[in-house]
Amino acid sequence: MNPLTKPVLHFLLTLVCLFLFVTIKNGAVASSDNKPEYADQLDAIVTMPADADYGEYLAGACLACHSPTGTDSIPRIHGAKKAYLAQALLEYKHKHRENSVMQGVAAALNDEDIAALVAYFSVN
Ligand code: HEC
Repeated sequence: MNPLTKPVLHFLLTLVCLFLFVTIKNGAVASSDNKPEYADQLDAIVTMPADADYGEYLAGACLACHSPTGTDSIPRIHGAKKAYLAQALLEYKHKHRENSVMQGVAAALNDEDIAALVAYFSVN
């Protein structure tokens, strides 16, 4: 055997293990428990009474990007269901959904903000 073969194989095997570890770990979070850790938070947001005026006020910052019709790169959020919007925002907030812009936006929102925003967008 070429003296280099062993270390190279060892290295490749390590890479494969690392890849499997990451894949299994990420998959396990989603599959071992279908409820995300923020499931209760989502329920609370969707059921809490929302302040419509506050929602309209906060939405001003979203409208810079989210037009009522959406664009190729920015999805339409007007008229979407409250639970759908709230879940998407929590996914960004908890970094279960990749997008640095929306992760930054969602990080600044608390539960009351999200409730007000999704109430606003669900009817506008
Ligand atoms: C700087 C531009 C920008 C701003 C400001 C912005 N968004 Fe977004 N938003 C995006 C982009 C781009 C995406 C698509 C990201 C992706 O691919 O996951 C997105 C995705 C979303 C989604 C997921 C929609 C779907 O159907 O998957 C929601 C919900 C959302 N934004 C809500 C908001 C709310 C609420 C605000 C205001 C608090 C806001 N966004 C502000 C750019 C923006």
